[in-house]
Amino acid sequence: MAADYRPLLNRFPQLRASLAPTPLCDLPTPVQHLSSLGGHAWVKRDDLTASEYGGNKMRKLEFILADMDRHKAKHVVTLGATGTNAGVAAALACHNTGRSCDIFTFPQPDTDTVRKNRALMDHYGARCLPRRNLLSAALGWYLHPGRLLPGWYFLYAGCSNPPATFAYINAVLELAEQIEERQCPPPSEIIVAAGSGATVAGLAIGCALALPHCTVTAVQVAPARLGPFAVCHPNVIEKMQDQAWKVLREQDATLPDRPVQHWVWEDRYFGNGYGVTDASTDTAISVGSAHGLALEATYSGKAFNCFLDTLDKRREPVLFWHTYSSAALPEGLQTTSGS
Ligand SMILES: Cc1ncc(COP(=O)(O)O)c(C=O)c1O
Repeated sequence: MAADYRPLLNRFPQLRASLAPTPLCDLPTPVQHLSSLGGHAWVKRDDLTASEYGGNKMRKLEFILADMDRHKAKHVVTLGATGTNAGVAAALACHNTGRSCDIFTFPQPDTDTVRKNRALMDHYGARCLPRRNLLSAALGWYLHPGRLLPGWYFLYAGCSNPPATFAYINAVLELAEQIEERQCPPPSEIIVAAGSGATVAGLAIGCALALPHCTVTAVQVAPARLGPFAVCHPNVIEKMQDQAWKVLREQDATLPDRPVQHWVWEDRYFGNGYGVTDASTDTAISVGSAHGLALEATYSGKAFNCFLDTLDKRREPVLFWHTYSSAALPEGLQTTSGS
């Protein structure tokens, strides 16, 4: 496939010059039938977005890097948990484009995945700025003095912002082409982890444009609120859809009002907290592993747990959107193993 294959830009050619995503990913990612889980079980393999590091963040960063270029950004500041996948992807993208990357972090339960990610952020030259909790990390990010200076880019947690949402609108248009080519049937439901929100926001708009009969189910994996502020909450995702569509309409005035899609918030798999696993998430991770899918406990394991339960209840095709990188660690990079 051509390096600039991005169906969003074919659908809305007016956006081509203004969005101009930086190709980082091998797209389209495959769709795969999980036949031993039932004739109706499908997965979209965004774990394979890129060979060095995959997952949903690399898709987002294609559009975000272009935005950084437009802002002439040299320094990137973001935030996330100590084992943030978004931090790894941002560190890699900054490393490859000659930008500095600072990451305000807050603690999460320590696991092999967390240790691996910390080693990767270090490997790609990011500077982690540990804070004792989410509130202090968020304040460090919001009140950073670089906000008053040119050349600084403040990337929200999870690499979520309007360009990230464009990436997942594009991803649904990509899936729609795969359906058209009969690589998989049209799903009645897409199940995906919801953290910072742009993945679901983009999937919902994308489905409204191209798969109107498909419901997006967003599996909550982070706390709904931080004090009075909504964090991992349906209102945040609705707002992200509005913001992203507004930016697109500023670039292409011929776009209609924001297309609206029915989507579902699923809070029953969050369990005991962000990054905290439980027996049913662990079982889901083992089932995934037996089917060749590398899942982790914070995001993809919880979403896959929901997927397995949904397969039991539905007969129509259901698609699990895999969002966690399955790339191997770069050669020579060691992490201490443990729980
Ligand atoms: C592996 C994985 N899946 C899903 C998500 C959730 O995506 P979003 O933050 O766009 O809601 C994240 C976010 O950090 C992630 O790292």
